[in-house]
Amino acid sequence: SMSQHVFVDVVACSSSFGLAFDIDGVILRGANPIGNSRRALRRLYNDSGSLKIPFLFLTNGGGIPESRRALELSDILGVKILPSQVVQGHSPFRNLLKRFENEFIVATGKGEPAVVMWEYGFKRVVSLDVYASHFSNIDPVAQYKRWTTIQESNCSKNSENIIPHGYSQKVKAAFVVSDPVDWGRDIQVLCDILTSGGIPGEKNWHQPPLYFAADDLQYQAAFPSERLGMGAFRISLESVFNRIHDRPLEFTCFGKPNPSVFRNAETILGHLLQTSCPANVRTGNDLGSPSFKTLYMIGDNPLVDIKGAQQAGYPWFSILTRTGVFRQRENHTQYPADLVVDTVEDAVEFVLKRED
Ligand code: G3P
Ligand code: MG
Repeated sequence: SMSQHVFVDVVACSSSFGLAFDIDGVILRGANPIGNSRRALRRLYNDSGSLKIPFLFLTNGGGIPESRRALELSDILGVKILPSQVVQGHSPFRNLLKRFENEFIVATGKGEPAVVMWEYGFKRVVSLDVYASHFSNIDPVAQYKRWTTIQESNCSKNSENIIPHGYSQKVKAAFVVSDPVDWGRDIQVLCDILTSGGIPGEKNWHQPPLYFAADDLQYQAAFPSERLGMGAFRISLESVFNRIHDRPLEFTCFGKPNPSVFRNAETILGHLLQTSCPANVRTGNDLGSPSFKTLYMIGDNPLVDIKGAQQAGYPWFSILTRTGVFRQRENHTQYPADLVVDTVEDAVEFVLKRED
C-alpha cells in the first residue's frame, strides 16, 4: 500500500550516518582499485543502482575538474559517482573567486591546473607552463630537459588574450593546484614571481598571495613506498625563498586536515541525503542541515585524515586502513584512529554492522 511504500522510503533515507573516503592509499593506488574498494562501494547503493547511504570522496589530490574526476572514478569503480561527491584538495579555491575572479593569476601542478581554476570561474588564469614560456631563459636548464610541455586544452587558447604583453602583467596570486611536475622550474619561477611582487625581474617587497591545495608531506601512489607530496614541495620552495628573500614566505594551505574541509563534507553529505530521499521532501521535513549521528572518515594517513577527523570532532569517527601510508599493526601513537582495519572493505563492513 501507499503508506507502506512511504514507510520503506523513510527507512531507506533516514540514514543518520554518512561516509567520507580518502582516495590515494584507500580506494586506489595509482589508477588501480585496492582493498576491494569496488565491492565495498557497491554496498552503499540499492540493487537499482541508486545511492542508499550518503558518501563522498575527500582527497587532497587533484589536477582535473571535479566533474571529470567523477567520470574517471565512476569508470574505475563501477558505480555512478556525482561531481558533488568529489571533494579535492583544490575544491576550496572556489571560495577565493570573489577576490581573484578578474585578476591575473598563475596555477601549477600535474594535470590541467589552469582548466581547474577556469572552471571555478577565474577568468584570467594561466598555467605556470604557459606563463614561463613567455620569458626566454627563465629556466636556465630548459634545453637539457628531454620532454615537451603539453599545453592545456581550454586555457592555452585564451592565454594570448590573458597575457597580451607577456611579462608586463603583474601576477596577483599563485596557486599550487596539484603535485608539481617540474619542481626545479616551478621553484625558480615561483621565486621570481613571489620575490618581485608579481613581475619577474623587478624588485618589490610585496609578496603576492600563495595558495596550496594541500600540505601532505608524503602519500601513497603506485610505488611500494610513500612518495613526496605537495607538502614536500612547499618545504622546498619555502626553504629556498627564505634564503634568497628577507621576509619569510607567506602562504595558505587548504585540504585535510583543516577542520573546514570536514565541515564542508558534512554539508555536502546533508545535501546528498536530501536529494536521494524524496520521502523527506514529501513529509515536508526541512533537512536544510540534516544532523548526522555519525560521519565516518576512512583514510590511510594518520597525520592528515585521522588528525583532521579528530580535530573536526563530533560527529566524526575515524577509521585507519593499512593499505597506504600507514602499515603498522598497532594504532598510530600521535593520532590514534577510532578504529584500525586492513582494508576499506573491512571499514565499510564495520560501519554497516554498527549502523544496522
Ligand atoms: O597527491 C595526492 C595526495 O596528496 C593525497 O591524496 O586521496 O590520499 O588524500 P589522498
Ligand atoms: Mg590517502
